[in-house]
Amino acid sequence: MIKKDKATIRAKREGYKARSVYKLFAINNKYRVIKQGDRVLDLGCWPGSWLQACLKFKADAVGIDLKETEIKNTETIKADVMKDRIFDKINGRFDAVISDMAPNTSGRQDVDNYKSAMLSERAFNISEKVLKEKGNLLVKTFQSGYSDEILNKIKKKFSFVKIYKPEASKKRSKEMYIVALGYKG
Ligand SMILES: C[S@@+](CC[C@H](N)C(=O)[O-])C[C@H]1O[C@@H](n2cnc3c(N)ncnc32)[C@H](O)[C@@H]1O
Repeated sequence: MIKKDKATIRAKREGYKARSVYKLFAINNKYRVIKQGDRVLDLGCWPGSWLQACLKFKADAVGIDLKETEIKNTETIKADVMKDRIFDKINGRFDAVISDMAPNTSGRQDVDNYKSAMLSERAFNISEKVLKEKGNLLVKTFQSGYSDEILNKIKKKFSFVKIYKPEASKKRSKEMYIVALGYKG
């Protein structure tokens, strides 16, 4: 039997759908990616703990995932963000785009890194289409040979860009978050 880690147990006790909620809390405490009253697009939202965090921040989030996601008082869309049809499903502009998207891991690190890079690049491309000027982007990516390329693309379009590795990430994990504030349009 797989032993549950402390963050998973804590999330369950506190009524959150996943341990990843603590990563968003930590990032938002430090960088204020999401503010009260913001309109937020959450890419790869299932099972919904980041959407729950948005409710806490008093932000109005729309979530998209391949899987059906149900969170009270929150709009969710079941769709593949890699397909262009998603632009028919989302309306208006957003103050923040957040992406915790991750591929189904195959066990082959080179393949997984590539897929993760594709998802993060897509999140960046979507943010360019839907962010308001001065809006913020938060995107997960696996640390790999592809990370610098995406980081450099993001740096050109945002005023402030930092890498963040939250405490709540499993120690062995290669995941990192790119925090990008102040979209230049
Ligand atoms: C780590 S989980 C997200 C956890 C979520 N932030 C939470 O806190 O509840 C990653 C999600 O990315 C989604 N995902 C991966 N590829 C996707 C794609 N092409 N389109 C939409 N969602 C995708 C997966 O279905 C998965 O639910």
